[in-house]
Amino acid sequence: MNQPVMEGLRLNVPAYVKHQRLIGWVAEIAALTQARDVYWCDGSQAEYDRLCTQLVSAGTFKKLNPAKRANSYLACSDPSDVARVEDRTYICSAKKEDAGPTNNWMDPTEMRSLLQTGDKALFKGCMRGRTLYVVPFSMGPLGSPIAHIGIELSDSPYVAVNMRTMTRMGRPVLDVLGADGTFVPCVHTVAAPLEAGQADVKWPCNQTKYIVHFPETREIWSYGSGYGGNALLGKKCFALRIASTMGRDQGWLAEHMLILGVTSPEGKKYHFAAAFPSACGKTNFSMLIPPAAFDGWKVTTIGDDIAWIKPAADGRLYAINPEAGYFGVAPGTNTLTNFNCMASLNKDVIFTNVALTDDGDVWWEGMTDTPPVHLIDWQGKDWTPAIAKETGAKAAHPNARFTVSAINNPALDAEWDNPAGVPIDAFIFGGRRSTTVPLVTEARDWVEGVYMAATMGSETTAAAAGQQGVVRRDPFAMLPFMGYNMSDYFQHWLDMGAKLTASGAKLPKIYCVNWFRKGADGKFVWPGYGENMRVLKWMLDRVEGTGAGEEHAFGVTPRYQDINWKGLDFTPEQFNITTHIDKAAWGVEMKLHQELFQQLAYHLPAELPATKLKIEARLAAE
Ligand code: GTP
Ligand code: SPV
Ligand code: MN
Repeated sequence: MNQPVMEGLRLNVPAYVKHQRLIGWVAEIAALTQARDVYWCDGSQAEYDRLCTQLVSAGTFKKLNPAKRANSYLACSDPSDVARVEDRTYICSAKKEDAGPTNNWMDPTEMRSLLQTGDKALFKGCMRGRTLYVVPFSMGPLGSPIAHIGIELSDSPYVAVNMRTMTRMGRPVLDVLGADGTFVPCVHTVAAPLEAGQADVKWPCNQTKYIVHFPETREIWSYGSGYGGNALLGKKCFALRIASTMGRDQGWLAEHMLILGVTSPEGKKYHFAAAFPSACGKTNFSMLIPPAAFDGWKVTTIGDDIAWIKPAADGRLYAINPEAGYFGVAPGTNTLTNFNCMASLNKDVIFTNVALTDDGDVWWEGMTDTPPVHLIDWQGKDWTPAIAKETGAKAAHPNARFTVSAINNPALDAEWDNPAGVPIDAFIFGGRRSTTVPLVTEARDWVEGVYMAATMGSETTAAAAGQQGVVRRDPFAMLPFMGYNMSDYFQHWLDMGAKLTASGAKLPKIYCVNWFRKGADGKFVWPGYGENMRVLKWMLDRVEGTGAGEEHAFGVTPRYQDINWKGLDFTPEQFNITTHIDKAAWGVEMKLHQELFQQLAYHLPAELPATKLKIEARLAAE
């Protein structure tokens, strides 16, 4: 049964698949893409191992030394396919205004013609010679009322194995889906069809790339890239871009946020959700180990990248991590900066674009002070410290990543997959700013907090293709991930605050942080990483109503004496560099806020320019 035959192509539908609409859609996509065959992923360990072995044979994976990294692999991508491609990412809402001025937009009919229906539609025949993998996945605990199901059809076995680690993937998802459950259809191709007899390359991809979202019909179509957020469609495409539109319609929030728990020595537990742009410290913060002076304090990870946040009957906001694994930045990660992360990476890891050591292990910049004497770099070339000194060649790509299951994390929170989520005590927003923005500021109220988040700026990183180190506005760290008009999203946040206030609930506090301010020597002044606990503790004191601080133009910042410095040699002068408010720099900053508000003028909530006026008046008076 269930074996429709399309132009000679067997769909290979397993008997347990009961969903006729799903089968019909798979048949339709198989026919469109002319895939050689179809394989339905069951998500088992045996299947994972088999696909990994197949990837080793294909040259995509190298199996690492099992004595060093058990059951782990290294993939090195095509040098042109190393990060998200924001300029190739589209929100194809029916109306351009609904995508908003920060998103690329194309008329959905035009886009469909380009991708699916036109004479030269890109997806026609794009999977020739390749297997189409059916990858059923759940974002959020399987079967829970807050979870949503997606099905990714991909011609990349690399995607299939990564999706198994990053999501709850496989047959159990189809069991939950039943005969007529709803799912978000996600079509992905590396867009490198193989003609008869043509040899494959180790990282197939295409110079032409399209990462396309149809928010009204909740569909994702991804063409030409095999890397990260471009290809693992449960992550940014679904859990942020599509989910943000679902959240707008249904009254919840999909955010680019880590979620962490902090437990006091007395056993009181708090939860924070923090939005930092890509490669600005979410994974690190979510796995933080408090300094020795904070004896008895514990930080635990609920999520490291994405939060789905919903108001509950008690009037509080509850957050869940829709993912099941971490796709984290490797460079800069070491046992001192992120011990828990390093401990997560001992087994069952897929590394992408890091360097290979002579004994079959991995290395990246910042893993050890002294690099190995010889490596094979991420592009397959010999690498030595001398070569690096001469050519500047990096052993690992700056956006090199690891894929690992959350259950590998020694700091994993006991509630990490509780379908009810965890109650949020405070939100933190933070950018990467060498200047201007203080170490930490508390918003005096929800609107001021929304203003801070909306106007946040950050220096661009290697997580996205394009120029790096340029300050751009990145509202809520969501600029590349918004599924609808940014100003409508600001309104959604304001409405959420108003609704919770009306219900009599205590709103989460809102903070803005910056770990990245630099001194005259060009070095980070703030030690960061585990020491961020000192800032976290100040926020906790504020949540408890015991912490003191100093009011200024746009919020409240701790004075030197308001922070616990036990065990850290950090002078008041150094602290002043991290917190100083330079009036001239803020004059420039306010102009950038103004430019942002001009760009976002359509539907911009009046509260935001009104808050700006108040800040400017206070700045002028100081
Ligand atoms: P995405 O996965 O791209 O969303 O990134 P992320 O926000 O999870 O960033 P991650 O924690 O992976 O950190 C990115 C880079 O910033 C790494 O090289 C870290 O070593 C560095 N980093 C993280 N936290 C700190 C910090 O507190 N201070 C400094 N100076 N660097 C940090
Ligand atoms: C990010 O860029 O914010 C990431 C990596 O988390 S990716 O999954 O590639 O989007
Ligand atoms: Mn991210």
